[in-house]
Amino acid sequence: MKVDKLIIYANQLLTLQGSAKPRTNKEMEDISIIEEGAIAIKDGKILDVGFSPKIMQKYEAEKIIDASNKVVMPGFVDPHTHPIFVNTRENEFEMRIKGKSYVEISQSGGGIRSSIEDVRKASEDELYKLAEKRVWRMITNGTTTLEAKSGYGLSTESEIKMLKVIKRLNKNLPIDIISTFLGAHEFPTEYKDNRTEYIRILKEEMMPEVKKQNLAEYCDIFTEKHVYNIEQSRDILNKARELGFKIRMHADEIKAIGGAELAAAVGAISADHLGVASDSGIQAMKDAGVIAILLPGTIFSLGMKSYARARDMIDSGLPVALATDFNPGSCNCDSMQFIITLACLQMKMTVAEAITAVTINAAYSLEMGNKVGSLEIGKQADILVMDMPSYKFLPYHFGSNNVQTVIKNGEVIWSN
Ligand code: NIG
Ligand code: FE
Repeated sequence: MKVDKLIIYANQLLTLQGSAKPRTNKEMEDISIIEEGAIAIKDGKILDVGFSPKIMQKYEAEKIIDASNKVVMPGFVDPHTHPIFVNTRENEFEMRIKGKSYVEISQSGGGIRSSIEDVRKASEDELYKLAEKRVWRMITNGTTTLEAKSGYGLSTESEIKMLKVIKRLNKNLPIDIISTFLGAHEFPTEYKDNRTEYIRILKEEMMPEVKKQNLAEYCDIFTEKHVYNIEQSRDILNKARELGFKIRMHADEIKAIGGAELAAAVGAISADHLGVASDSGIQAMKDAGVIAILLPGTIFSLGMKSYARARDMIDSGLPVALATDFNPGSCNCDSMQFIITLACLQMKMTVAEAITAVTINAAYSLEMGNKVGSLEIGKQADILVMDMPSYKFLPYHFGSNNVQTVIKNGEVIWSN
């Protein structure tokens, strides 16, 4: 039978085949490897997967990718990023080296608030051009599905502008980009001493308008001691749910204030960061089916020591995903490969668990587990050819790009 493309003789083909739900416990360790593996692609989808000689008997194609001595795996799914902004904040990075903390910097005029003015002033086209370049850099590092948040405008007009940029990126760039409204990222300076009024605007103006224009699937919030407390978060998230948004949360990043518990109570799809989540929070998330998205790049870039307790989470049966948290302040990292290295070294995740976390579990955290995240028959042909002899090489060789070819919906979109 004739197909569009064959990828053949992969040293290791990581299919991530398994149960059709977020992977937990020992399942995270099982990445279903086929040695000398091959994939047949037709109409942008995976038609067949198996042992190369068998696949080559069944199918022929004009386009053949020889993956001998290479690893072939699903494209990375990055489920938590903030790529729409103007100014970068490397000055804050240096302030942290000199001993200032993230919270101190944000309380003395830096932080999220210092990204607001430029975004409000920028045109949609300016924002688009800057973000387009950033997303391409993610693609060259192997990301084929991306979640992107607003949250640097903090007014109805500028948040809508950011979300329109995300929508345009999704339309024009070759990867899937899922949009999240993050109007509750901070309190803008003009409402810093009148937080109640900003929350009213969020609930009564911004959220209904975003919904009306259908610009975001999810609503997110920065629940943290110095930003949105638990009561404010509950109030905003209940309204979001009422309007039909699905929920994601920045929870328990710096101070444990019960963010994980709230994520469980409001039925969030994911709770992200969780650096200081409590045992009861982890248990509540597990019981409610919330996926933990861990962001070790942020802990690393903030120069903090205590990473999220990935081992306890996985061992207690919570599904864990990983993301870059790419943003101008706390983590300017666009490489899921580096995140894997950190997850293994600093959180003691095994390489296989980390790979599960950046593919199929990340896909489920965006409710796309039936389309992407594994190399199974019928799924989108979102595939990476990695220049490495075995999957264990991935975190071991860090600091440069291991990706040789990025394939999205069956088409080569980038090649080294
Ligand atoms: O996920 N925690 C909140 N938001 C970002 C930081 C954004 C910024 O500092 O600009 C994060 O780390
Ligand atoms: Fe974030």
